[in-house]
Amino acid sequence: MDCFLSKATGLLSSARLRISIIPRHHFSPSVILPLSPRHQTSITQQAKMSSSSGKLLSGGAKMPPMIYGTAWKKDHTADLVYEAIKAGFRAIDTAAMKRHYDEALAGEGIRRAIQDGLVKREELYIQTKFSPEDEAYADTTLYPSIADQVRASVASSLKNLSTSSSDPTYLDSLVLHSPYPNHMDTLAAWTTLQEFVPETIRALGISNTTLGVLHTLSQAPGVTCPPSIVQNRFRRAERAWDAAIRRWCTECDMAYQGFWTLTGNRADWPTAPFVRELADAAGVELETAWYALIQAVGVVVLNGTTNPAHMREDLEGTKKIAEWRETDEGKAVWDPCFAAFRELVGVVG
Ligand SMILES: NC(=O)c1ccc[n+]([C@@H]2O[C@H](COP(=O)([O-])OP(=O)(O)OC[C@H]3O[C@@H](n4cnc5c(N)ncnc54)[C@H](OP(=O)(O)O)[C@@H]3O)[C@@H](O)[C@H]2O)c1
Repeated sequence: MDCFLSKATGLLSSARLRISIIPRHHFSPSVILPLSPRHQTSITQQAKMSSSSGKLLSGGAKMPPMIYGTAWKKDHTADLVYEAIKAGFRAIDTAAMKRHYDEALAGEGIRRAIQDGLVKREELYIQTKFSPEDEAYADTTLYPSIADQVRASVASSLKNLSTSSSDPTYLDSLVLHSPYPNHMDTLAAWTTLQEFVPETIRALGISNTTLGVLHTLSQAPGVTCPPSIVQNRFRRAERAWDAAIRRWCTECDMAYQGFWTLTGNRADWPTAPFVRELADAAGVELETAWYALIQAVGVVVLNGTTNPAHMREDLEGTKKIAEWRETDEGKAVWDPCFAAFRELVGVVG
């Protein structure tokens, strides 16, 4: 069942079970109804939108095409987040998961950048995660239900990522870090997260997901706010570049964020002739050329560099390629390289 059909069926079954008002921004007609071919955005147009301007989510948040990832930065998190914003990043990804992230230090870096006048809150896209595996809320005497755990985690994230003592804190998106082993628990977490949308959390996403879970979250009774974002491994080894899920995201107008794009694909990008050809012709590093190709198939890149020079190179280089490929000279190199890349990772549009 495709995304549209699944959502429409879900809506009907939900409506039978309960009377509810579905917020307009959650199920806009363009999400429920397949567009006619005349109205469908062409692949080339999609590539332009996703690589240069970012993605507008259903709740109004704007997601830039490259997000700074804060995993494994430990005590350097605040300084690296500050450096990333200084270099031009306008999106930060963190998580309420102490083992891999320091959300409080991510918030500190963001606040420092705002206080120093590098950026305004409304120019930033701030994303965190509720992590079912985190130990912070695992004590069932204190947090007896999944709903209690989710609410406690969200309250803590809002505190960590607060940017002003006067304005109400909001998050551009909150991602369920992974589905639970069973759908009932996943739905319990999801329906609790929905309580915060749209005032406190603009959009919801899910990470490390399968198509089955997306299907459930788009049609289960009680789901009024289906995912706007998927955050998954973008790798050959992962269900052939996650092509089926990327296709689902395209059909549902959802954002697809890819991680481990460099570290998870060392057998591919360093040796691919079309990556080298593109990098040489555009005058950028191999990593940047690889990122530009990934963005052009609609994948929002999570970039985990710890090196300020790489931060600037990646942001400026991908922007440079997006402009250069519009020129006759650039197009002559870009088109065959992009065709080879699309053949590698699958055409989903
Ligand atoms: N949802 C999840 O379960 C999940 C899991 C993993 C990651 N993530 C998110 O994805 C983010 C990125 O993950 P990642 O750090 O593993 O993957 P990555 O961005 O694929 O890899 C970053 C590594 O590549 C190196 N690198 C070399 N040249 C680079 C360049 N020009 N630009 C960027 N990096 C370059 C970096 O070294 P230098 O530091 O020397 O540049 C760093 O060691 C994480 O921070 C996190 O936010 C989410």
